Amino acid sequence: MTTAIDQLKTQIESALITAFGPELAGTDPVLVPTSNPKFGDYQVNVAMSLAKRLGQKPRDIAQAVIDQLDVSELFETPEIAGPGFINLRFKPSYLNQQLATIQQDDRLGIAPVNQPQKIVVDFSSPNIAKEMHVGHLRSTIIGDSIARILEFQGHDVLRLNHVGDWGTQFGMLITYLREVAPEALTTADAIDLGDLVAFYKKAKARFDEDPEFQETARKEVVKLQAGDPDSRKAWQLLCDQSRREFKIIYDLLNIALTERGESFYNAFLGEVITELKTTGLLEEDQGAQCVFVEGFTNREGKPLPLIIQKSDGGFNYATTDLAALRYRINQDQADRIIYITDSGQSNHFAQFFQVARRAGWVPEHVAITHVPFGLVQGEDGKKLKTRSGETVRLRDLLDEAVVRFRAVLEERLTAEERSESEAFKANVAKVAGLSAVKYADLSQNRTSNYIFSYDKMLADKGNTAPYMLYVYARVQSISRKGDIDFSQIDSSVINISEDAELTLAKHILQLEGVINEVATELFPNRLCQYLFELSQKFNTFYDACPVLKAEEPQRTSRLALCDLTARTLELGLNLLGIDLLDRM
Ligand code: ARG
Repeated sequence: MTTAIDQLKTQIESALITAFGPELAGTDPVLVPTSNPKFGDYQVNVAMSLAKRLGQKPRDIAQAVIDQLDVSELFETPEIAGPGFINLRFKPSYLNQQLATIQQDDRLGIAPVNQPQKIVVDFSSPNIAKEMHVGHLRSTIIGDSIARILEFQGHDVLRLNHVGDWGTQFGMLITYLREVAPEALTTADAIDLGDLVAFYKKAKARFDEDPEFQETARKEVVKLQAGDPDSRKAWQLLCDQSRREFKIIYDLLNIALTERGESFYNAFLGEVITELKTTGLLEEDQGAQCVFVEGFTNREGKPLPLIIQKSDGGFNYATTDLAALRYRINQDQADRIIYITDSGQSNHFAQFFQVARRAGWVPEHVAITHVPFGLVQGEDGKKLKTRSGETVRLRDLLDEAVVRFRAVLEERLTAEERSESEAFKANVAKVAGLSAVKYADLSQNRTSNYIFSYDKMLADKGNTAPYMLYVYARVQSISRKGDIDFSQIDSSVINISEDAELTLAKHILQLEGVINEVATELFPNRLCQYLFELSQKFNTFYDACPVLKAEEPQRTSRLALCDLTARTLELGLNLLGIDLLDRM
């Protein structure tokens, strides 16, 4: 349907040229979906915008356009309404044929893009030996969904975990490790260092209280950077420990990521400096090598220096990002690079993007985009905390969602007098609980802060994952009840006529447009909204139109509509990283 609408635009443009002459080439037809089904499905509003220029009444212009336009395959006879709107209403025959086409296709009629790109999605990216916090969870969920959508479109997506695995804190951590667990460095086996966050806190306390420890830690950084094998081993141990903890979360959420941490770009930091020198952008400021970024000022209103190399020779977060950007463009051959972090880092991205552009490192065809998101807040609107006031561990946060959904489920099963196996209940609770957390995050406009509420996200009504999972399971139960094999449905019998059927069908056919929009603008909440409306429209249809009890051929036609709804939900939810349940 998306291509049909694109074609329609071209047709209207040629109609304008035929009616009013070649100077109308390139005129925007102002083709929009109608706000009210009363006016059909699409509206062409170009007549109003041309009235002045052509010196004619909009209604006359509209008539002239219609006279030159043959859209009889798709639409009923166009109607002129109000001052000069052209209203277009899809013909059921066209919808039937479109539904039949997508019904036979695994991809629901959505072809891969003609020109696949190499796309880097930089997401999740927690820091070694530090807490993987709710901000990283948001990045993980949003990033995974964006990557899935781009992959579905046929792009070659590199999912990069830009882990914070380098920096001066490792001097402190390694020194502490040598103090408390020297045996860790001599055994060949992986060793369990326990809770690394607690380890980090204790190391920091030692660092703060003891100047001698500080001195050793400083030397340790130098050794590590020089590649001392013993220091490298200690560093590796710390990274492995964190990795194991991160993996628990990634496995739970079914997230695929390639780890390429900050340390990976170490070898390329020197090039950043030499290359920046040759461009003449690098300036010395109080012993540090900086680039003064345009459009940013410090508190005194002076131009802001972005420090590339500190006076002690050390490098910064931004230096690594510049090296990484160069690597992704030159080695990975990326056409598009997408970074997903909280909006607190927006300035960081704007600044190093600017430096890279001014240095001439970003070719015209490469798009670099920061995708910012807001904070996760507790129900009190403040930073999310446990009841005792501590930061929430992600593991606990996710487990809690599963436990709570399990309680909701048990209650419902009792009410429905159903007895189910432990395995069934555990699986339903896990899938629905984790889906609820993902969906709650994705369904918000990512730029706003979002309030984490178990009650809201686990509710079976409203724009929630459980609501949609129920709709999907309901369709599967229709097939069980009627002993229907959806894959055997003969698509040629699809023949819709009721309002609820038409409304549902038109919505199903919009999926491609929504996916394209999310792939361009990177707002997954648009897809959530689409799926929510799909579920609502399905429920309206299901209330209004009998399915299993209908007479043939209507019965099969409606079954096909049920199947298409379920498959649209399945595809859409999968693109959000959400699994479905046949029964719940
Ligand atoms: N490790 C960083 C943090 O926890 C996020 C890294 C995002 N990616 C990047 N290329 N800067 O805040």
